[in-house]
Amino acid sequence: MKAIVVTEQASGTAGMKLVERPEPQAAINDVVVQVHAAGFVNTELEWPSTWADRAFRDRTPSILGHELAGVITALGYGTTGLSIGQRVFGLSDWHRDGTLAEYVAMEARNLAPLPGDVDFTVGASLPISGLTAWQGLFQHGRLQAGQSVLAHGAAGAVGSVVTQLAREAGAYVIGTGRAADRQKALDFGANEFVDLGNDSLEDVGGVDLVFDVIGGDVQKRSAALIRAGGMLVTAVGPTDIRPADGLTIDFVVEADRAQLSEIVQRIRDGRLRTNIGKVSSLEDAIATFNSTERRAGKTVIRVRS
Ligand SMILES: NC(=O)c1ccc[n+]([C@@H]2O[C@H](COP(=O)([O-])OP(=O)(O)OC[C@H]3O[C@@H](n4cnc5c(N)ncnc54)[C@H](OP(=O)(O)O)[C@@H]3O)[C@@H](O)[C@H]2O)c1
Repeated sequence: MKAIVVTEQASGTAGMKLVERPEPQAAINDVVVQVHAAGFVNTELEWPSTWADRAFRDRTPSILGHELAGVITALGYGTTGLSIGQRVFGLSDWHRDGTLAEYVAMEARNLAPLPGDVDFTVGASLPISGLTAWQGLFQHGRLQAGQSVLAHGAAGAVGSVVTQLAREAGAYVIGTGRAADRQKALDFGANEFVDLGNDSLEDVGGVDLVFDVIGGDVQKRSAALIRAGGMLVTAVGPTDIRPADGLTIDFVVEADRAQLSEIVQRIRDGRLRTNIGKVSSLEDAIATFNSTERRAGKTVIRVRS
């Protein structure tokens, strides 16, 4: 099968290669999925899990990409709950070969059914940004109606979902980002927008929850805005920053079937709009990832047309 692999961390995205790899086999409780569409987050290349397995052994050449939508073609020993021919979407294990490939073997529990009226491209755009937003807001951030959320990068892949879910939950959302993204963030539902390049973040006043996807100085300045009992939730830690009278949670997204189902239900009924910036084929994927063009939103690789 065709797959995009990396073998050397120092080469970055320039080191990606489209190669032939053996088709994967389903282990216990796995399924094999024929990938129709896949997502990719650039920072995967910096993660230790791209280069080593859970026993810290070199696992290169590693197939990149950890989110997908596709159709199940095989079940492993003991696998229940999903069936051959079923449409699914989900988040694959960071330490295993990924989804920028024609087939992937992964744990069945990391997948949810993809309803027939949701396109594979849309399905593949949801797992990482959708689950990150859901877990940051509700699991870690314990968001309540009436609270205020500072949603950084509100026009980006994660931030646009954070903005929409937080609004739906009854929060007041202050989105941030680049000047050019003001209207896009407001269209996703932000009540107001802070252009981090020109406006003063400090003018925002107190917030209950900061959802950080930027880090560095922005993270530090945001922590200072948190009200007593509030929280800084970051997807780009590590951080030593603690709000004066609140909590910091630095987390990595996890697969969750029930949450995936909640997210896709919102896509179907219009409560949530996905944020796809670019769709490429597997053949064009490496050129797309290496492009210097600014990408607004999620890049999805359509593996099968
Ligand atoms: N921990 C986890 O589990 C987890 C999960 C998902 C994502 N992440 C991480 O979260 C980050 C965001 O992911 P994403 O997929 O949402 O990326 P994205 O689509 O590029 O969104 C980030 C948004 O923030 C904006 N932004 C970044 N730095 C900024 C700055 N200094 N000032 C103003 N705007 C700025 C970006 O604008 P530009 O495009 O112009 O830079 C973009 O609109 C990435 O670092 C990713 O690796 C972590």
